[in-house]
Amino acid sequence: MSDFLKLVGIKKSFGGVQALKGIELAVGQNEILCLVGENGSGKSTLIKIISGDLKPDSGELWISGRMYKQLRPIQSLNLGIRVIYQDFALFPNLTVAENIAYSQLVETQDRLVNWREIREIAARAVELVQADLDLNEVVGNLSVANQQMTAICRALTRDTRFLILDEPTSALTKKEIDRLLQVVRDLQAKGIAVMFVSHKLNEVLAIAERVAVLRDGELVATLDREEATNERLVELMSGTRVTYSRYEAKPSNEPPLLEVKDLSKRNCFQDISFSLRRGEILGITGLLGSGRTELALALFGIDPADRGQIVVDHQPIKIRTVKDAIKAGIGYVPEDRLTQGLVLKKSVGENIAAVIIDRLRGWLGLIDNRAWNAAVERWIDELAIRVTSPEVKAQTLSGGNQQRVVLAKWLASLPKILILDNATAGIDVAAKSGIHQIIRRMARQGIGIILISDEIPEVVNNCSRILIMRKGRIAAEVETADVTEAEVQQLVELTEPRGKGEGMVASSL
Ligand SMILES: Nc1ncnc2c1ncn2[C@@H]1O[C@H](COP(=O)(O)OP(=O)(O)OP(=O)(O)O)[C@@H](O)[C@H]1O
Ligand SMILES: [Mg+2]
Repeated sequence: MSDFLKLVGIKKSFGGVQALKGIELAVGQNEILCLVGENGSGKSTLIKIISGDLKPDSGELWISGRMYKQLRPIQSLNLGIRVIYQDFALFPNLTVAENIAYSQLVETQDRLVNWREIREIAARAVELVQADLDLNEVVGNLSVANQQMTAICRALTRDTRFLILDEPTSALTKKEIDRLLQVVRDLQAKGIAVMFVSHKLNEVLAIAERVAVLRDGELVATLDREEATNERLVELMSGTRVTYSRYEAKPSNEPPLLEVKDLSKRNCFQDISFSLRRGEILGITGLLGSGRTELALALFGIDPADRGQIVVDHQPIKIRTVKDAIKAGIGYVPEDRLTQGLVLKKSVGENIAAVIIDRLRGWLGLIDNRAWNAAVERWIDELAIRVTSPEVKAQTLSGGNQQRVVLAKWLASLPKILILDNATAGIDVAAKSGIHQIIRRMARQGIGIILISDEIPEVVNNCSRILIMRKGRIAAEVETADVTEAEVQQLVELTEPRGKGEGMVASSL
């Protein structure tokens, strides 16, 4: 089998950071190669060099037997290379159809925009992945998962020879992921080469024919599928072994820190009641669209509930705005850091200090620089955020390190209650385990934590109780001591809302 792509001695530095230190890598004409590595190891940088978005400092790119010192984006596109980026790079104010058909329209440079053609191109791509997308919807209004699907469709509109997916599944549910993996296999069968980047090693092991491992800008190994195991990959990526353990919360008889009673919001969630104790990590899971995120947004005042009661520390409170929530001691780490969590153009330090800035004001309202530096440095350190200085802009950080900045921002505010909504999506295995340790430490210090996640192992390992949501209701509640991951997965896929037949059985599991 001849190679579609061969990289020889690719190097790239950003200022003092050597992001790629001489990469040698080949991808066969219809091979599925997975690329793994910790946050900041150079995966996205490598991809941008292949797509022509970045120019390598040195090295050669061989494509279908021809040598290039660098590629321009249009060249890369014409060679059949398509990339789906970590941050989607969609146009939020255009429709789904326009986004999908965009590159083709630019390419043909039609003066007249032909709506029928746009719709046809888009419909074909949507059909190919069997996505459930409304072509006329404005992309900015879509859920993150549907934005991701739109980005995938866009990459499939033209003569694709080599498809690169940079963490394509971070916002998808298991069903959507399975469909995407199938799409990838179908594309391979049509002779398309695929490079798949993911932190979810189970996906990697499900789809890869070979796995390339990056560590600190170096390619440390390329394994055949048979040689690759979860443990082996983690060890190669991090240079250490990561062990998993379940979190044992201290039993507490204290009164609840947070009580939610019959909270409802039209078309989002109904009659949600639960309590959260100090030091507890409460898991919430469920399929996409089950109302988990809407519930979190209501508790944090972004999209307030219509009815129901919220009691924090015995005080009934009204949460109508984010300010109300912050005042009540609630912090929120969103699933979509790019629109809700992070100001990309600001520095890492400014992002971390954003919530606590008022507390750092001293006499005359001036910011106490020493306190500011101390707070920022402490949290960069606690979360092991890889930056050369707090002054660098958030946009220059790798995806996973950006997510840590958002976490740092809320942890720095020392909340009473911290809501994490798929907050470790896109974070590498070793770092994720590090973040779990931090969450547990926060819980031991008395913070109540609500951990919303699609990843069943994440909720099972870290939480004492799990609420499973479905269709806007709590369909089941389980104590993690009593269940296995497989049982929880089953509940997520099967349970009807609580009080409707099945759900009663499930909740008594
Ligand atoms: N435009 C830039 N300016 C400065 N530094 C950059 C820039 N882009 C990337 N870097 C640095 O290069 C290194 C590699 O980053 P890259 O985004 O390639 O990592 P990654 O492997 O994709 O990580 P992740 O899993 O978190 O997405 C990081 O240290 C990052 O901070
Ligand atoms: Mg990346």
